[in-house]
Amino acid sequence: MLFHSEILRDGDLLNQFATQYGVSQLPMTRVRHFYDSASSTLTYVVSDSDTGLSAVIDPVLDLDYASGTLSTRSADRVTGYIRDQNLSLRYILETHIHADHLSSAPYIKEQLGGEIVIGSQITAVQQTFGTIFAEGNGFCRDGSQFDFMLSDGDRLKLGDLEICALHVPGHTPACMAYLVGEALFVGDTLFMPDADTARCDFPGGDARSLFESCQRLLALPDETRVFVCHDYQPGGRDLAFESTVAEQRAHNIHVGAGISADDFVAMRESRDATLDMPALILPSLQVNMRAGNLPPADASGRLFLKVPVNAFGGSALDRFASDE
Ligand SMILES: [Fe+2]
Repeated sequence: MLFHSEILRDGDLLNQFATQYGVSQLPMTRVRHFYDSASSTLTYVVSDSDTGLSAVIDPVLDLDYASGTLSTRSADRVTGYIRDQNLSLRYILETHIHADHLSSAPYIKEQLGGEIVIGSQITAVQQTFGTIFAEGNGFCRDGSQFDFMLSDGDRLKLGDLEICALHVPGHTPACMAYLVGEALFVGDTLFMPDADTARCDFPGGDARSLFESCQRLLALPDETRVFVCHDYQPGGRDLAFESTVAEQRAHNIHVGAGISADDFVAMRESRDATLDMPALILPSLQVNMRAGNLPPADASGRLFLKVPVNAFGGSALDRFASDE
């Protein structure tokens, strides 16, 4: 476990938030969104108006998988905004090890500074994917690729704002949501109310845990602003990424309107059984489990990503492995 001197661990986050502060009394947190249409991912820059301190949440590194071409186009939009607004980047927050896009956290850190942060359960995810990708001892499974890790209830100062970490397992065992002032960044727990919840069929995923995590988020004050990590624009509607806890509680088509845990689990598991793997899951996991760094270069300095055959099922064809 990595510790960080600026993590505040003095008290119960939700009690403090719900009882000591009314949401309407909190300053309006400044949030800027960036949308990557290739992966339907939303990256956010959240900033404190008074000090200009900022955090980036879930930044994207572009990959054209067919050609193996990487690009920092999406990340450059984010860094351009931070520079234009004269913000100072303090943290780069990952909600989880994404399976649908690569993280540009190291590139953004190189450009602007800041520290890369993720949830402490990342070590379990690194164990799982280290095995799937047959990583050697050189691949650390202790989260040390990140600058530091947060546990449930940990808080960080961001000027006059506080970043409060909430462990919300279900989609993955290490998922975190971040409450910054009155703005809640939910990662892949909740999507927009008309667009359901995240899948739970990746290794370590669990539908019942996701239901409980969603209920915990939905217990926050009504006015809490909810920012999602993905929007797939169901029915071809315009992009949407912000709602409120009240709207999610009343209208989320999977976890709103008082649905029971059993009904949610049955629905979630039957739906997950119909879903294809995300197009970028294999490159994404290899990079994101390294905090957005690429796997080590080979002896000639060239970079490669692996495709583990049949890691998620398939026909047994081991006998066709060549012995060259
Ligand atoms: Fe995800």
